[in-house]
Amino acid sequence: MNTACKSFSLLVFFILMAGCSEDQSTENTSQVLTPTFETIMAAEAFMPEDERLAKIYDRSCRTCHAFVDAEAPLTGFVAEWDIRLAKGMTTLVANTRHGVGGMPAMGTCFDCSDADFNALVDFMATATAIATAIVTEDAK
Ligand code: HEC
Repeated sequence: MNTACKSFSLLVFFILMAGCSEDQSTENTSQVLTPTFETIMAAEAFMPEDERLAKIYDRSCRTCHAFVDAEAPLTGFVAEWDIRLAKGMTTLVANTRHGVGGMPAMGTCFDCSDADFNALVDFMATATAIATAIVTEDAK
C-alpha cells in the first residue's frame, strides 16, 4: 500500500467514525429510521442485475432513492423498507403511481408498468443480498 492509499484509508476511517457519532435524528426527513454511513454509501452503489430494470432505475428511482439528501427510503435500507412493505405491495405500487410525500407521480418513470414498479420496489427493499454478492466477487 503506498502513502497516498494509506492516507486515503485513514480519511475513510475518520469519515466513518464521524458518521457513527453524528446525530441525524433531528433532521427533517421522510425516512422513519436513520441510516448508518455504510447504508448511505451502499445505496449509491446498488444497481439491479437485470439490464432493463437497471436502466429504468438509473434514470428514475435512483435520482432520489440512492442519495440520502433526497429524503427517500434508501435502496438497500432494509429496515426502512420493511416498514413500507407492511403497507402491502399493492399500496406501494399505487403510491408510486400517484406520488406520495416528496415523491412525484410515477417516481418520474412515465413508461413504467405496475409490474415494473413492483420489481423496482423489490430490488430497493432487498438490495443487501446483491451487495454482499458484489463485495465477495471483488474480494477474489
Ligand atoms: C424525485 C425523487 C424521487 C424519485 C425520482 C422516486 N422517488 Fe420514491 N420516494 C421519494 C420520497 C421522498 C419518498 C418518501 C415519501 C414519504 O414517505 O413521504 C419515496 C417513497 C417511495 C416509496 C414508499 C411509499 C410509501 O407509501 O411508503 C416507494 C414504494 C417508492 N418511493 C418507489 C419509487 C420507485 C419505484 C421509483 C422509480 C420508478 C421512485 N420511487 C422514484 C422520492 C422519489
